[in-house]
Amino acid sequence: MTNISLHLEKVYDFVSNDEIVAYKKTAEQQNVALHQKTGKGKDFLGWVDLPTSISEATLSEVEKVVLKLQSKHLEVFVVIGIGGSYLGSKAVIDALSDSFSHIKGSFESPIVLFAGQNISEDYLFELRDLLDTKEWACAIISKSGTTTEPALAFRLLKQDLEDRYGVEEAQKRIIAITDEERGALRTLATEEGYKSFVIPNHVGGRYSVLTPVGLIAIAIAGFNVRELVRGAKSMEIACGIDVPFEKNIAAQYAAARNALYKKGKKVEIMVNYNPKLHFFAEWWKQLYGESEGKESKGIFPASVDFSSDLHSMGQYIQEGERILFETVLSVENVNYEVLVPEDNADLDKLNFLAGKRVDYINKMAELGTSIAHVDGGVPNIRINIPQLNEFYLGQLIYFFEIACGISGYILDVNPFNQPGVEAYKKNMFALLEKPGFEKETAAIKARL
Ligand code: PA5
Repeated sequence: MTNISLHLEKVYDFVSNDEIVAYKKTAEQQNVALHQKTGKGKDFLGWVDLPTSISEATLSEVEKVVLKLQSKHLEVFVVIGIGGSYLGSKAVIDALSDSFSHIKGSFESPIVLFAGQNISEDYLFELRDLLDTKEWACAIISKSGTTTEPALAFRLLKQDLEDRYGVEEAQKRIIAITDEERGALRTLATEEGYKSFVIPNHVGGRYSVLTPVGLIAIAIAGFNVRELVRGAKSMEIACGIDVPFEKNIAAQYAAARNALYKKGKKVEIMVNYNPKLHFFAEWWKQLYGESEGKESKGIFPASVDFSSDLHSMGQYIQEGERILFETVLSVENVNYEVLVPEDNADLDKLNFLAGKRVDYINKMAELGTSIAHVDGGVPNIRINIPQLNEFYLGQLIYFFEIACGISGYILDVNPFNQPGVEAYKKNMFALLEKPGFEKETAAIKARL
């Protein structure tokens, strides 16, 4: 089997190969620090060897629970979580699913929907309205158990399940994925007797997709989690502790983006030409944004879906402020073949493409855009993905995780904390007059 691959030739107009290779020693050292768990945030490096160390017992347990839930003939499975507790599974499920599966439905697997990732009253109303007509179950995923958004959604959905199925059956339809010992959700899961899974202590939310946090939802959506882990494992080996810079694509990617950052390229846009990858970019944005954006440093991670966004963001990318570079997720082989038909009238002047595949046109759009953007001053990194399947997505996930660790260490930040996330929570609790926040409430009200 081939691997995903990294292509840097379209950055050399902006940073030379020498300027990238200048990071060789430090990138190798940071990779060693990650594998030896000696760098900043070393208590949160459990994900580094997760693909090779995930136990057979965990995988079988995931499969067993999924089979049990499937026996209930579920139409919908709701995943309740926010940030790292939902983006990974959403990214993988969307990348592998039929674009219209939510309308077509499936006889074998329930549709996976998400809740607790926003505080929209309309979203929650409309979701509950839908669930009222479906056979459903849910997973609540929260390490702390007290994150407002998922806690709020779970409070409502738990009540709905109990009203609909009775307390005993509701308990069988709720999976809790949380800390092994601590936290409100662990206490609730024990009290209610929910089937539960552990988010390992040393794995932070945004690095947790290869734990039950991601695996349960991906498996229940009908995808092969063993293949996902196998792909990640192959990338763990390909980016291992002894792998030299020249062979380690994660170290090279980390070096290239830091070299570009040094040259003033402060925004990295993740580009896809396949809408199935929209949420993969959302997952990537959390991974890189939360890991690197601190101490007044860090590349701002953005994303676009091409060619759609060429008709909106394309103008800025081509001619706006020259602080951008692109990283393109380039899918080599699509799943289906669609040919352009001949049309006698040819009013749209597309007959010159008759008999050609739609994907050929997409590929030419990709190539033409990358050349135009390089000409316009936007460096272009390309990641080639042979096909959208579980194996390559596993590779891609581990590649971005380990590259993020190396890149964050090169930047000299702790990529495994997120102190800035607390600021909005403090203000929100103060405004909501949460007990214990009296001083903050008075202070914020004085500012209104
Ligand atoms: O990356 C992270 O750690 C965060 O995005 C968390 O995943 C997110 O805030 C959810 O936290 P919790 O799992 O405690 O509900």
